[in-house]
This record gives sequence, structure tokens and C-alpha cells, in this order.
Amino acid sequence: MLNDPAALIIRKKTWDGYFLLALRSPRVARRAKPGQFLMVRVSGQPYPLLRRPLSIHARDEEGVEIFFARSGLGTAILADKKTGETLDILGPLGKGFVIPATAKGKSFCLIGGGRGIAPLYFLARELRAKGGHPRVFYGGKTEADLPLIRKFAALKTEVFISTDDGSLGFPGLVTAMVEKELARSARPARIYACGPDPMMKKIAGIAAGLNIPAQLSLESIMGCGIGACWGCVRKVLRGGSAEWVKICEEGPVFASREIVWDL
Ligand SMILES: Cc1cc2nc3c(=O)[nH]c(=O)nc-3n(C[C@H](O)[C@H](O)[C@H](O)COP(=O)(O)OP(=O)(O)OC[C@H]3O[C@@H](n4cnc5c(N)ncnc54)[C@H](O)[C@@H]3O)c2cc1C
Ligand code: FES
Repeated sequence: MLNDPAALIIRKKTWDGYFLLALRSPRVARRAKPGQFLMVRVSGQPYPLLRRPLSIHARDEEGVEIFFARSGLGTAILADKKTGETLDILGPLGKGFVIPATAKGKSFCLIGGGRGIAPLYFLARELRAKGGHPRVFYGGKTEADLPLIRKFAALKTEVFISTDDGSLGFPGLVTAMVEKELARSARPARIYACGPDPMMKKIAGIAAGLNIPAQLSLESIMGCGIGACWGCVRKVLRGGSAEWVKICEEGPVFASREIVWDL
């Protein structure tokens, strides 16, 4: 884990409530793996003190991108940042998605709801680079929650769209679209997903029912992101028995079969 106290914002994109910042930070970028995250200091002022966890959305040799929804004070401050300003970041943190050694020629199902799509772009690129065929299931409440459709399509991946209000694509929850699609197409080698807990629980059920291994990225309130505060604990199955682990250290990505849902 590295601390870059002055990651320069070199590019910014804004949609309705969603933001993308490209940060120059070569040392962090070189170590980044899909599914890992950064702890971002949103302000140089004492308040808000706590850093915010944000997934690494993309990387190249020079830097990383973050993609986020404005959801509270911290992300609102971040949304106001301009190119030329710097951010204090810690990362890459956590354990990311496990990509099988033999991804070539295999199909993968990537499922993201709203801001949960953030880590899946980096993953889709890695899978493509290894000769895999990611199919992306991208859901939102409404069309405005899906600003990255064209970015995914440019990777030459199949992109399936759903909106809860039916304004674009499949009308209904992204999990319903996934269930429908998996019922009529060949089984993917693995499912990867990121989103709120109820969505992750549903996907774990779908994966178990079809006997498809799944890797799920869990959200949590995070005070430190580095294993120091115990603010992010979650019960998981290890060696047949349940134990509490820190999501920031052991996750945020877990195999779905090890996650305990009846909290
Ligand atoms: C590993 C990880 C990766 C994430 N990646 C992304 C991403 O790429 N894009 C994105 O838009 N969001 C992401 N999130 C969620 C994001 O961290 C929260 O939306 C954000 O921290 C909210 O901060 P806020 O100050 O705007 O909201 P506030 O509600 O004002 O935050 C108050 C406190 O609660 C915490 N908090 C509130 N909601 C959440 C939440 N759902 N998850 C974690 N902490 C929360 C904040 O860290 C803060 O300490 C991720 C969360 C985790 C755990
Ligand atoms: S966020 Fe502090 S221990 Fe995980």
C-alpha cells in the first residue's frame, strides 16, 4: 500500500450525479489490480476527517481513474474538484477479483448496479486482455444512472442494460435481467458483481442455483481502509466455520459461497 499525497487530477468527466476523475499516480497505478480500492482524502480541512473508499475504475501506466456517485458530503466535495488540483490517496488496498489463469476463450458475467459498476470496467479490460469474453450487465434506477454504457461498449463487450423504471433496456432489476439471460445462454465460467448487499445476496443465490462460481465485491462503512479501526467487519465462512473478518483487508471481494448473509 502506498500513500500518494499529491495525485494530480488530469481529467474530469461529469454526468448527472456521477463523476470520473483521472489521477496521475504512476506508483499506485503500477500495483493496481481489478477490484482493489483507494482511500481518498476529500478535503485538506480537518472535516470531513475520514477518507472515503473508492474502487479503482481503470488504470494505465501513468495513473488511475475513479468513478463515483455523489451520495453524501464526502463525494459532494470530491465532485467539486477540478483538473489541476491534487488528491491525497492511499492504495491500492484490499484483495481484488480473482481471474482464472485460463481465462482465454471463456465467457464471464459482470454485474453492476449504479455506482457498483465502478470496479467492473478495469476487470472487463483485464479479462479482454487475457482473451476472455466478458458480458456486462449494467443496471440502474433510471437511464441517468447508466453513464458508462458507451465506455463498456467500446471494449467490444456485450452490454445488457436494465432500469428499474423501464426508461432504458430491460424493465426491472438487473438481477432479473441476469436470471433471464442465464436461463437462455451458455453458462459463464464465473460471475463477478458489485453493488448493494440485497443485490449481492440475490446474485449469490442465482450463482449457487446454477453452480457458477461467483466473486462479489461488498460495500461497507470504512473508517480507515487499512485494518486499523475494525469498522468494516463481516461474518464469512472459513474452513467450515463462521468468523469475523475485515472487509478492507480480506475483501472487498469474496467468493460468494463464503459470505454469510443472515446477519
Ligand atoms: C471498497 C469500496 C469501494 C467503493 N467504491 C465506490 C466507487 O467506486 N464509486 C462510488 O460511487 N462509491 C463507492 N463506494 C461507496 C462510497 O465509499 C460511499 O458512497 C462514500 O464513502 C460515501 O461518502 P459520503 O461522504 O459521500 O457520504 P456520507 O453518507 O456523508 O458518508 C458518511 C460516512 O459513511 C461512509 N459511508 C457511507 N455510505 C457508505 C457506503 N455505502 N460504503 C462505504 N462507506 C460508506 C463514508 O465513508 C463516511 O465515513 C465504495 C465503498 C467501498 C467500501
Ligand atoms: S476500515 Fe478500518 S479496519 Fe477496515
